[in-house]
Amino acid sequence: KLEKIYVWLSISILLAFIIALIYASVALAVRVPTDVGQIVPNPGESLVSAVMRTPPFNQPGIQEVGPGQYKVVVIGQAWMFNPPSIELPLGAEVTFYGTSLDIDHGFYIPGTDVNMMLLPGQISVLRHKFNKAGEYRIICHEYCGTLHHLMTGTITVK
Ligand code: CUA
Repeated sequence: KLEKIYVWLSISILLAFIIALIYASVALAVRVPTDVGQIVPNPGESLVSAVMRTPPFNQPGIQEVGPGQYKVVVIGQAWMFNPPSIELPLGAEVTFYGTSLDIDHGFYIPGTDVNMMLLPGQISVLRHKFNKAGEYRIICHEYCGTLHHLMTGTITVK
């Protein structure tokens, strides 16, 4: 009898989680950054050199890919972003591509919904349209060691 209660209890908890997840993704429009791939070093190759030769990370920075559309390629490493500062025109529709050269880092722009992880050997992708001019800060919000608190960057939108 007790087992039955436990089983139903676990099923209800699971259902509640699923409903919460659906609610979060639909109603609150929480966007989960997509992981579009892996960077796999060749035998004997370091992750750093594998990242450096794998497109789009062989060219970190900003690239205009269409009218008002930009590709921003960011590489995180202890304790900096490459590039450290990014300039975009107002209204820019940006697709961020991110990865890390060493350990887990974060890529968070306060005041926006840009929030993704930069993970070693993994490619994260996130889209955002900058509709407000100003100076945005990029913050590593994943603890990454001694100088974690200094790992910041800037995005200037004008
Ligand atoms: Cu990088 Cu915290």
